[in-house]
Amino acid sequence: MSQKTFFSPAYDSINQLDVYQAGKTVDELKREYDVNNVLKLASNENALGSSPHVTLAITEQLGHLARYPDCRGDELKLAIAQLTDRKRSQITLGNGAIDLMQIIAHSFVAPDEAIIYSQYAFFVFPMLAKIVGARGVEVPAKRYAHDLDAMLEAVKQTPNTRLVFIANPNNPTGTLLSQQQIHNFVANIPEQVLVVLDEAYIEYCPESDNSALLDAFDNVIIVRTFSKAYGLASLRIGYALSHSQIAEVLNRVRLPYNVNALAQSAAIAALEDQDFIAKVYKINHGQMRWVCKQFDALGLDFMPSYASFVMVNAASVGDVDAIYEGLLQQGVIVRSLRSYGLEGWLRITVGTPEDNTRLIDTLRDVLESL
Ligand SMILES: Cc1ncc(COP(=O)(O)O)c(C=O)c1O
Repeated sequence: MSQKTFFSPAYDSINQLDVYQAGKTVDELKREYDVNNVLKLASNENALGSSPHVTLAITEQLGHLARYPDCRGDELKLAIAQLTDRKRSQITLGNGAIDLMQIIAHSFVAPDEAIIYSQYAFFVFPMLAKIVGARGVEVPAKRYAHDLDAMLEAVKQTPNTRLVFIANPNNPTGTLLSQQQIHNFVANIPEQVLVVLDEAYIEYCPESDNSALLDAFDNVIIVRTFSKAYGLASLRIGYALSHSQIAEVLNRVRLPYNVNALAQSAAIAALEDQDFIAKVYKINHGQMRWVCKQFDALGLDFMPSYASFVMVNAASVGDVDAIYEGLLQQGVIVRSLRSYGLEGWLRITVGTPEDNTRLIDTLRDVLESL
């Protein structure tokens, strides 16, 4: 064993982590490519912004920045409890969904235990296994989607499995598992194994609501976020629904004041404006159909998506790097999926009708110039 020094991380697995590489920011693109009008379709942000109620709520909070936020987040929990038809004791608040997933991993997974997730699933899952020094087991995907039969087998075959992460719909593939598939999976899982369902895109896909599982199984945790349809990505806020005893553990491990006051007020205001969510849903649905029709017309293969983004196979029409770069040169940022092992694929967020028209016009231009 190598000698410990002051910079040795707690676990060797931490040495295998890279610092997260976020995509290009709008300012970087403006500087590097000398373009003024940048269209960012790389991070599944809500192009429609957030509810106007949010602006008002935040403005009111600005006079109180010297005060700590409500540590328990009681008012927000009440609003979430009403929306989800759960008890307040079943809710944990987090600094975004990824904070909650880290709290879950820290709370329940010991270094000699295993975390199971799918190939091409949300990138944070393998990262969390390394952070807590656990064994991360990636199960091969089936046609780019979670293969629940294989995952069940992996759970049974892997000693000390403690946690399974499932993103539904999944990012970056946009694939959806049916409620029946998930129910069967959970019903067959050993009860000491926790199943974490990441429902970050639920507002875009109401049929991905699997919270009814909480009534039948105690080992399920549902994680959701205000970053996507609610349009509050910059404020970092999400919530988990679980059995009250699980929530009690999570609330012990969560650091005090992990959710700031602006985020709490914004989330309360956002929840009150369900008309905004209905509008977001409708526009995304219509625009998703339109964008996919245009991809078809361009001869571009894509994965049908249940979320707010589409994974396209750029390699089906040309060289992926040339297409990615061509889009950047014209001010359009999309997400390369090379880091996911999806060579040749790009992920594109569905935007407003104007955004999408520009995307398709630019894409057509780039493809013609190849
Ligand atoms: C599947 C999935 N889960 C979680 C998140 C992150 O949510 P948050 O911004 O609340 O941390 C994302 C964002 O891209 C996501 O795609």
